[in-house]
Amino acid sequence: MSGKTEILYTRRYRDDAVNLLKPEAFPLYTATAFGANSLSEIKEAYRQGYTYIRTNNPDREVLANQVTALEAPGMKRESLIFSSGMASISNTLEALLSPGDHIITHRSLYGETQGVLKLLKEKMGVESDSVDLNDPQSVRRCIRPNTRLLYAEVCANPNMDLVDIPAVAQLAHEHGLLLMMDNTFTSAVSIKPLTLGADIVISSMTKFMCGHSDVILGCMTSTPEIVEKVYPVSKLLGTPADPFPCWQAIRSLETLFLRVETQMRNAAALAAFFESDPHVVRVNHPSLDSFPQRDVAKKLWKDDAAMAGIMSIVLNTEDEAKMDAFMRKLKYAHYATTLGGIHTTLNHPCTSSHRNMPDDQRRAVGITPAMLRVSVGIEDVEDLKEDFHAAFAALDA
Ligand SMILES: Cc1ncc(COP(=O)(O)O)c(C=O)c1O
Repeated sequence: MSGKTEILYTRRYRDDAVNLLKPEAFPLYTATAFGANSLSEIKEAYRQGYTYIRTNNPDREVLANQVTALEAPGMKRESLIFSSGMASISNTLEALLSPGDHIITHRSLYGETQGVLKLLKEKMGVESDSVDLNDPQSVRRCIRPNTRLLYAEVCANPNMDLVDIPAVAQLAHEHGLLLMMDNTFTSAVSIKPLTLGADIVISSMTKFMCGHSDVILGCMTSTPEIVEKVYPVSKLLGTPADPFPCWQAIRSLETLFLRVETQMRNAAALAAFFESDPHVVRVNHPSLDSFPQRDVAKKLWKDDAAMAGIMSIVLNTEDEAKMDAFMRKLKYAHYATTLGGIHTTLNHPCTSSHRNMPDDQRRAVGITPAMLRVSVGIEDVEDLKEDFHAAFAALDA
């Protein structure tokens, strides 16, 4: 055998080792395909094995099972893992909606989800209405014979706008509609929408789920019947996630509770600290009595320190030079166009997510140039308080 051939076919390892299939960390399977020695083995692989990377992959499957365990403990549910949060949203909607269908969304929605709705309207004639889903009268007024689902985020950017999930689920089911929820801002450590009546939950795993700002992934969990409708769409559109980020996410989820519980506890403590500081005129976090939907928050959560690792604050000035000085003075918290990571990060809605919204419309919903979104990390919260306290002085200059 020539060396050229030998290098291709010599993969010597102990494939009869008693513990080969018991590695302490789950292996990364980058293989695009799994081999077979005979036609009967191929048939068996199609029935219950692995075939081709876009169709199935061990890392994606392990991760999907972890997500199901998180989102739907004890329920007969399944999950799919997508290449991004947007893929989980767009593929699920595409799979469940037909031309001419109608959906109703909550008034606050991630901008790119609104972009998907625009595309669905232009390409498939799927119409949508945006209302306050907490107001049953408004929802009932919008329901048409072709309405298929209600869509909301558990906690919406940047005001932390909530929906009363059990009440909205009941309303949806009274009218034969599905309730689909985006759990990106909260994660299943905080809340499990499926256990509160929602039918479908999606998340951008890029955020709290993965938590290290180094992975892009999305997930969707629902009944086996719904998953069976969405899976072929994902497979055909080519959105099943690559194994490497799945492998990273398997690791990330093993520390999910440690991270997110700390982030939520830190956020509640920081929210109270911000509220007591004169440089901050408004804090939007569901743990505070000043939060406009405090009654909904109390219905959804029992523990104020376990609601969300994110909030928005409004500073006492819109002066950009002062805000720049404040941001430069911070030692730990820093600007980043993401959220949910283990480091505390800031975001400025007026220059990012809401930059294309007219100023008067933004102000009408409380979004001003003085607003910052704060995604809280796992630092010692006393260090964070000290850091913000010192940097706030820059606003007085
Ligand atoms: C609420 C929400 N849903 C979905 C997404 C999309 O996620 P991804 O960037 O992973 O596609 C984001 C991204 O910021 C988000 O904030």
